[in-house]
Amino acid sequence: MDVDIPSSPGKFKSEKPHHHYLRLLLRWHYSSLHKFLCWTIVAAIVLFVLFLASPNLSSSSPASLHSSSITERRSLRTSSSSPAWGDPAWEKRVRDSARIRRRPFGISVLVTGAAGFIGSHATNALKRRGDGVVGLDNFNDYYDPSLKRARQALLSHSGVFVVEGDINDGPLLRKLFDLVAFTHVLHLAAQAGVRYAMKNPGSYIHSNVAGLVSVLEAARSANPQPAIVWASSSSVYGLNTEVPFSESHRTDSPASLYAATKKAGEEIAHVYNHIYGLSITSLRFFTVYGPWGRPDMACFFFTRDILAGKTISIFQGPDDATVARDFTYIDDIVQGSLASLDTAQKSTGSGGTKQGPAQLRVFNLGNTSPVSVVELVSILERHLKVKAKRKFVKMPRNGDVLFTHANVSLAKKELGYHPNTNLQTGLKRFVKWYLEYYAPPSGSYLTKKGRGGGSSSS
Ligand SMILES: NC(=O)c1ccc[n+]([C@@H]2O[C@H](COP(=O)([O-])OP(=O)(O)OC[C@H]3O[C@@H](n4cnc5c(N)ncnc54)[C@H](O)[C@@H]3O)[C@@H](O)[C@H]2O)c1
Repeated sequence: MDVDIPSSPGKFKSEKPHHHYLRLLLRWHYSSLHKFLCWTIVAAIVLFVLFLASPNLSSSSPASLHSSSITERRSLRTSSSSPAWGDPAWEKRVRDSARIRRRPFGISVLVTGAAGFIGSHATNALKRRGDGVVGLDNFNDYYDPSLKRARQALLSHSGVFVVEGDINDGPLLRKLFDLVAFTHVLHLAAQAGVRYAMKNPGSYIHSNVAGLVSVLEAARSANPQPAIVWASSSSVYGLNTEVPFSESHRTDSPASLYAATKKAGEEIAHVYNHIYGLSITSLRFFTVYGPWGRPDMACFFFTRDILAGKTISIFQGPDDATVARDFTYIDDIVQGSLASLDTAQKSTGSGGTKQGPAQLRVFNLGNTSPVSVVELVSILERHLKVKAKRKFVKMPRNGDVLFTHANVSLAKKELGYHPNTNLQTGLKRFVKWYLEYYAPPSGSYLTKKGRGGGSSSS
C-alpha cells in the first residue's frame, strides 16, 4: 500500500539520489505505521462489537434500566469473578450449584433475584437443607449494588452460584434450563419499591411484567416444566378497606404502578396456568424486614438517619391518622416460601402443551399484627440507644397506602405457615446486623465490602 508522506509540497523535489534510501525507508516506515494503525483500528472495532454482543451484555443489564454507562456495565462485569456464560467453566458452576444433596426429597430450584434481600435468605435456606439451587440476578443499581455483591459473596461461600444476567434474557434462561432440569423456580426478581415508580416507571414494566413473562415462557417450554412460586405483594390490596386483607378480597384498585404490575403478574400467572399447565403459586408478602434488608425500606433508612442525627419524616394520613404496616420478619417469609415450594404440585404441561389442570394458588404471607410507624421508630430508638429527631409530615400521594394487615389463615392451613417473630425481636436482630455491617470492628470480613452506605428512595 502506497502512502503519501505528509509533507509540504516540493520538499522531496529537491531530494538528491543519495537520499533515495532514506526516502524509501521513510515510505516503508509510514506505510507500516499506517498498516499497523489500520489493523489496530479494525481489531479494536471487532473487539468492541464482540464485547457488546457477548451474552452477559446482550441481556438487558442494569444499565438499560437506569441509563448507566458502558464503563459502569464493564465494571460490574469485571467485579464479578464468574466466567462468561456458555463457557464450560460457567456450565460446571451451574451444574455444581444445582446438585441436590438431600435425598430422596431434595429439589433443584432456580432462584431469580437471588442477590436481593429475600432472594439471598431463601437461597441460603434452600442450600442449607441440601437442595440444589442456582441464583440469577442482574445486580442493578436501584440500591447500592455493593450490598448485593456482599450477599452474593456469602452465597458463593456456601456453594451457590449466582449467575449475573437479566430475566428478560431468553437465551440465557433457555441455557439454564438446558443445563439443569429445575424442579422449581422461585421467582423473586422484580423492581421493588412503591415510590420509585414515579421516577422510573419503565423499570417496573421491564422487570415485573416483561420479565415475569420471560420467566414463564422459559418455564413452559422446559422439559420437565418446573413448578413456579413467585413474589406478588400485599400492595395488590391497594385501596381495599376491608381488614384484615384476605385472599378473597378485591384487588382491582391498586394505588401505585408497582401494585398494578404485581396485580398484572397474578393475571399473567393465571394465563400460563390455564394455557400451558404451569403449577403457579403467588405469594403476597407484607412489608418484609430483617438483616441484609433493603436500604429503601423504613426500618433501614430510619436506622441510618437516626444514627446520623438527621431528622426523620414520619408520614401521617388525613386527620393525622397513623400509618401502620404488618411488618413481617424475613425468617417467617422464608419459611412460608419454602413451604410453598414443598407443597407445590408438578406442572402438567409437556412440550409446551398442557396435559391436564394444574395447581394455581395465592397466599398472604404477613405477620397478622400491624404496628404503627411511630411505634417502629420507638423500638429502633431503644435498640440503637439514640433518640430520633422526628418530624410529622402529610403522606404524599405517591402510591403508599395507610394500613396493611394480613389474614394468613389460608397459608396456615395449606402451608403450615406460622409467623413467630414479633417486631421487637426482629428489629433487635436487624439493628445488630446493621451495626456489624456498617460499623464493624476493624478487621472483620465485611469491613471492606460493606462500607459505603445504601442509597435511599425514602
Ligand atoms: N421486601 C418486601 O417488603 C416485599 C414486599 C412485597 C413483595 N416483595 C417482592 O419480593 C421480591 C423480592 O423483594 P426484595 O425485597 O428482596 O427486593 P430486592 O430488590 O432486594 O431483590 C430483587 C432482586 O432482583 C434483582 N432484579 C431486579 N430486576 C431484575 C431483572 N430484570 N433481572 C434479574 N434480576 C433482577 C435485583 O437486582 C435484586 O437483587 C420482589 O419481587 C418484591 O417485589 C417484597
